[in-house]
Amino acid sequence: MKIVVAGGTGTIGQLIVAAGRERGYDMAPLARSTGANVLTGEGLDAALAGADAVIDVTNTMTLSAKKARAFFGTATSNLLASAQRTGVGHHVALSIVGIDNADASYYAGKLEQERLVEASPVPHTIARAAQFHEFAAQILAGSNGPFALVPRTLMRPVAAHDVAVHLLEVADSAPTGRSRDLVGPRDEVLVDLARKYLAHRGERRRAIEVRLPGRYGANLASGDLRGTDAALQTTVTFDEWLAEQPTHP
Ligand SMILES: NC(=O)c1ccc[n+]([C@@H]2O[C@H](COP(=O)([O-])OP(=O)(O)OC[C@H]3O[C@@H](n4cnc5c(N)ncnc54)[C@H](OP(=O)(O)O)[C@@H]3O)[C@@H](O)[C@H]2O)c1
Repeated sequence: MKIVVAGGTGTIGQLIVAAGRERGYDMAPLARSTGANVLTGEGLDAALAGADAVIDVTNTMTLSAKKARAFFGTATSNLLASAQRTGVGHHVALSIVGIDNADASYYAGKLEQERLVEASPVPHTIARAAQFHEFAAQILAGSNGPFALVPRTLMRPVAAHDVAVHLLEVADSAPTGRSRDLVGPRDEVLVDLARKYLAHRGERRRAIEVRLPGRYGANLASGDLRGTDAALQTTVTFDEWLAEQPTHP
């Protein structure tokens, strides 16, 4: 089975490609560095030719709703159009648990992505997951200097590796439109994870919690991102994950 991973060089994309190869799938990462661009459409048909499934984990880092909608809207439209031309049997889109009340900022792009996938004739599954354990490091990477501002975020984080394995299982199953949400085993607060991560790495920066304004900030602080009891729950905690991470850059 050939699986194309759009965004296959990113944080979760690399884990999907590696986990898929371990399980014997023919894995094909797709990114600008492999010669394909989801925004211009360049190289997509060649990359998707012969694929049984596409897992879309492309990403852009922005808090602008306009930029997020433009990125995820264009990327999703181009991938779905190429999937239709090349006869891909299953489009799997990774989205985020608990964002329905936050059609704003970055999440506006993810909801736009979901709407386009739902409306597409390409057989598809939207798979939502909670924030990755890796998310704290991603937030910290966005700032330097002695203080790192961390938005107040109530979450139930999950190891990206567990999300990768889940997405492979979804891709290798019949398209269902929407799979069950996937969350981690424990409720956490992002700033605590950021502080643990900095301590683990021996970094002297201080993480300061801030409340972000607007609907996006309210959603992060509301607990909605923790999902509901109907979600699938994984077992690897943030502390267990962190213990396996390198202590130096
Ligand atoms: N981080 C979380 O906690 C979390 C939780 C739940 C869901 N998600 C979702 O997971 C997805 C992936 O997140 P991530 O953190 O793994 O992202 P990431 O590390 O930023 O990786 C993004 C990937 O997208 C590729 N990409 C960006 N622009 C592209 C373009 N124009 N054409 C082709 N490829 C392009 C990048 O490769 P190049 O730059 O080489 O092109 C890279 O492989 C996102 O959709 C996000 O919403 C994330």
